[in-house]
Amino acid sequence: MNIFVTQLIPQAGLEILRRAYPDYRINAEERVLARWELLEQVRGADALLALLTDKIDADVLDAAGPQLKIVANMAVGYDNIDVQAASRRGVMVANTPGVLTDATADHAWALLFAVARRVPESENYLRAGKFKGWGPLLFLGGAVTGRTLGVVGAGRIGSAMAMKSRGFNMPVLYTARSPKPQLEAETGARRVELEELLRESDFVSLHLPLSPDTVHSIHAGSLRLMKPTAYLINTGRGPLVDEAALADALKSGVIAGAALDVFEQEPAVHPELLKLENVVLTPHTASATIKSRSKMSVMAAENLIVGLAGQKPPNLVNEPDLVWKI
Ligand code: DGY
Repeated sequence: MNIFVTQLIPQAGLEILRRAYPDYRINAEERVLARWELLEQVRGADALLALLTDKIDADVLDAAGPQLKIVANMAVGYDNIDVQAASRRGVMVANTPGVLTDATADHAWALLFAVARRVPESENYLRAGKFKGWGPLLFLGGAVTGRTLGVVGAGRIGSAMAMKSRGFNMPVLYTARSPKPQLEAETGARRVELEELLRESDFVSLHLPLSPDTVHSIHAGSLRLMKPTAYLINTGRGPLVDEAALADALKSGVIAGAALDVFEQEPAVHPELLKLENVVLTPHTASATIKSRSKMSVMAAENLIVGLAGQKPPNLVNEPDLVWKI
């Protein structure tokens, strides 16, 4: 079998692959392959272990060839893959849900606190030698305990974000396609329309999957609905937010601050955001704990191996036009 791993991933996953397919091929560098390299490397592959930074579209699927059976993405999100094009070619697509839920929700909380309590800004001040003593007006920030959390997209990660608010006695509002009775029972959360959530929340945390329907879910108009004291947190996908509109809103005080782990044009970050102090930025590392990345690599490898054996991988996300290709 011809298996290609598009970038170095944690050893735990590679070890599982190695045991099943000792001759797997890998881009053993910590860098995203250039488009031409990807097109070249996938040629003849029966299976790809891909990352969210690899654009797996019809051209890549065709470059791989008709023998390609599965693309196992090492991510829960799979907006980097043209799933319809894969399905039409009988190619399975699998993802890695669950194992990064807590890590990602934890990071969203880290961002929430960082921006509300101005952690990076005040640390930079201190490191620059500017701290001359306690001051009654020094780095005043936003309170967290008791304030309203708005979770946009209460799926696995959004729900975990909401559950973790219990220690801070926060009323929770959420949006979701269907009600979440357990979440409501455990947190008192209330399902509302997005507009109400934006108007009422002190912290708005985004957890939607990226699709044509969710691009720019947060735009200039939505930001204007938010309180001037509110904060926006995004650990979902960058294009959920119109970054230019967000930069304007942050500059003009339409909202108090934002904390972003994901960006519209990764790895580029809107230059205006980089200039602002009321925004905290991390490099798409919300799931980056040793434990969660290791489990993601194992899950991706297992999906790949099961799919190659002609069985349904545990985390299949499409219904390929099969006739499984075995
Ligand atoms: C995902 O899995 O989709 C995250 O964005 C990266 O872990």
